Amino acid sequence: MARIGTRAEVWFSNVIASFARYVAERTLPESVPMLMRHDAVVDSFNYAKENMKGAYSFLDRFDGLALSIKEATRRFPSRKLVLEFGVYKGGMINYQAGKFPELDFVGFDSFEGLQEQRMVRGIRTALENGKSRLRHPAAGTR
Ligand SMILES: C[S@@+](CC[C@H](N)C(=O)[O-])C[C@H]1O[C@@H](n2cnc3c(N)ncnc32)[C@H](O)[C@@H]1O
Repeated sequence: MARIGTRAEVWFSNVIASFARYVAERTLPESVPMLMRHDAVVDSFNYAKENMKGAYSFLDRFDGLALSIKEATRRFPSRKLVLEFGVYKGGMINYQAGKFPELDFVGFDSFEGLQEQRMVRGIRTALENGKSRLRHPAAGTR
């Protein structure tokens, strides 16, 4: 059998070919994955156009929650406390706290799932303490 290259050369050309295929499948508009993706997007668009006429549309989750908070303050103007359960690094709560400085934000995170009993105690403590603002040491801005 004719030898087409050393073992290393064959391995290297296989790596290059795999990479080229990976890039091509994700960039060429006529590739099967790109056509499938296009089809899925059009399908979703048609579904939304047909069934979600009155729905709000947001480019990110921050704006969606901001609208909910705004609506809640309109409906319950005397209430100032906003609680978030599962704040992680505080990206969302700090963003919303910056957007609504007139409200008090309190965040919770167990970092391991919270047992119901502890959660109830946490809410009670937050309500008793009144004003509080979350600043997680690892919190970054959005
Ligand atoms: C996706 S992260 C939250 C991200 C954050 N809300 C934001 O938008 O920036 C989910 C967090 O929820 C926390 N979590 C999961 N179950 C929880 C529970 N039962 N009580 C409190 N925190 C919980 C996890 O520890 C995790 O940090």
